[in-house]
Amino acid sequence: MDFDPIRTAARSALDPLSWDYYEGVADGRPESQTDHEAWQRIGIVPRVMQGLTEVDTTLTIAGATFSTPVLVAPTAAHGLAHPDGEVATLNGAAAAGALMIYSSSARVEVTEFGAAADGPWWAQVYLMRDRLVSDDYIARAVAAGARALVLTVDLSGGLAEAPFRQNTRVGLPALPGNFPGLTWAQMSAGIDANLRPDHVSGLIESTGLPVWVKGVLHPEDAVAAVEAGAAGVIVSNHGRRQVAGVVPTAEALGDVVDAVGGRVPVVVDGGIRSGVDLLRALALGASAVGVGRPVLWGLATTGTDGVRDVLAGLTVELRQAMAATGAGSLSAINRTMVRPATFLTR
Ligand code: FNR
Repeated sequence: MDFDPIRTAARSALDPLSWDYYEGVADGRPESQTDHEAWQRIGIVPRVMQGLTEVDTTLTIAGATFSTPVLVAPTAAHGLAHPDGEVATLNGAAAAGALMIYSSSARVEVTEFGAAADGPWWAQVYLMRDRLVSDDYIARAVAAGARALVLTVDLSGGLAEAPFRQNTRVGLPALPGNFPGLTWAQMSAGIDANLRPDHVSGLIESTGLPVWVKGVLHPEDAVAAVEAGAAGVIVSNHGRRQVAGVVPTAEALGDVVDAVGGRVPVVVDGGIRSGVDLLRALALGASAVGVGRPVLWGLATTGTDGVRDVLAGLTVELRQAMAATGAGSLSAINRTMVRPATFLTR
């Protein structure tokens, strides 16, 4: 996959405010470039003489099966990129056999989204300071058929927001579909930035659904999430949008995987831009891997087909990388196949 032309085409297709919103980071460099470079510093140690007869990218996670370990990370406001918003993305993910995590900050309301879904999907959740507002959304997400909830816990920048956020959230045209009484700015400002592990257990108790905790970078926080009953942990720095100077997820993943110790699956996202990046993440112990902005770029350029092409293209590349490294299935990819390799450029 060469994402440069897709990203350039997306920039032309989007209005400047929407482009800035999608692109925004807390510390100056374009999108997830710092994270992407960190994946590239991991060298692959191929296995040989493995007698490979086939390569299978099938993912089984939380009782469901997908064609690929690539999933759609939850991103807000797909209505900025396409008139059908999240439903266009959903159809692209389904065409690629990939799981989609729906963002609570979606343009399409969750009941409508659930009605459009044929297969399993997960719903991302922000707890709002006014719990009546988030409880109402959560109840609709559960009723709409979400198989799991993803509680995002890394939105801690309430006091000092990233400049891109201050600029863009005021004027963003796509209104949040789940909170019709709120403007975009009011919705963002209403998110509770002071969560604790008991919010995870509370959400499990109140919904009965598996709850994944998204936005973990520190191993001790991963352990706290597991002890609170999380079904899984998502290692993420929110696409570098929250904390300037934050560690790349490539450098945080291994310690989290070790701390979790196989008790629950670990997913990672941030700067994944190739099948080799996917292989690196899986080798470090991720069960599945999220992509954020590339999906938005595909959506903005050619809609559902664009989303499918991004996800399917990454999967084809992963299959090639697996064939080249002697891994016939996702479970055959392991940490013995990677080393730090700071000289690499791809
Ligand atoms: C996000 N992300 C995000 N995460 C979340 O939990 N809820 C959300 O509503 C959003 N919204 C959102 C909007 C936009 C425009 C971006 C770029 C990102 C973070 C997202 O789930 C994921 O962590 C990153 O996007 C992964 O990094 P890459 O793939 O964009 O490099």
